[in-house]
Amino acid sequence: MEIITTVRDMQNLSESLRLRGKKIAFVPTMGYLHNGHLKLMEEGKKRSDCLVTSIYVNPTQFGPGEDLDKYPRDFERDERLSRDVGVDVIFYPPNSQMYPENYHTYITVEDITTNLCGLTRPTHFRGVATVCAKLFNIVKPHVTIFGRKDFQQLVVIKRMVTDLNMDIEVVGISTVREPDGLAMSSRNAYLKENERESALSLSRSLKLAGSLYDQGERDAGVIISEVKGFIEKHPGIRIDYAKICDVETMKDVERLDGRSMLALAVWVGTPRLIDNYVFGENK
Ligand code: PAJ
Repeated sequence: MEIITTVRDMQNLSESLRLRGKKIAFVPTMGYLHNGHLKLMEEGKKRSDCLVTSIYVNPTQFGPGEDLDKYPRDFERDERLSRDVGVDVIFYPPNSQMYPENYHTYITVEDITTNLCGLTRPTHFRGVATVCAKLFNIVKPHVTIFGRKDFQQLVVIKRMVTDLNMDIEVVGISTVREPDGLAMSSRNAYLKENERESALSLSRSLKLAGSLYDQGERDAGVIISEVKGFIEKHPGIRIDYAKICDVETMKDVERLDGRSMLALAVWVGTPRLIDNYVFGENK
């Protein structure tokens, strides 16, 4: 396994792989890897001759007062886990490689970025789209794998790839959970012992919403108020949003007639955790 820290070296390697007809899969991450990341990597491994992952805590997707400085990091452990899962190359650039002085270019995906996480994190998806576009230009993948845990992010990346005619297949992978149902996240590391039960209210409330749907409930307002009521019974919790929206437009829906999802963002003590459920999909 190779570790590459400069844009030039990564581009050179990818170019030579492409010239030799090799298929490149790419899994972008911010590190502090868990089984969710590893599942994406396993999928990338199956779909390629060379699996590249990036470990880069991207400053432009964090807003003022968010957890950029505190974001958990452990490169040695990430290196070990990546090697074990069969990663061929880790792209691990310093900020000076990604955003050198005089950096001025940003990508804005409009409309689908304004609801859900865009409400409290108005510059977040601009940072995500920008860094992913840059990483795609650096790694030159044929296929890239994203998690459905960050559903809106996946929709934004698919939109950007389509709109900017990037010749990349974007694959979405279902959410990997702890045995108790908690969606795996690097930010779970912030949870204190006594906050874990409260954190479980997210996945449990998705189940509750799923069973209401299965019993025939189609009124979004009814499901949302049940979900909020359930979550708010837990201590140390503050709901950012609990919304039901269309899976493509990311707009709120009043009735669950088309393909819609329940999306949650909740502060549990310090971390803000997200989770989602696409109705009728049993995931
Ligand atoms: P990060 O939070 O490290 O996540 C990297 C990838 O892992 C994302 O595609 C995310 O959706 C996926 N992932 C995280 N938890 C998962 C889980 N429990 N099950 C399945 N997949 C999961 O998302 C980012 O980093 C950044 O925004 C990034 C795309 C790297 C751009 O900086």
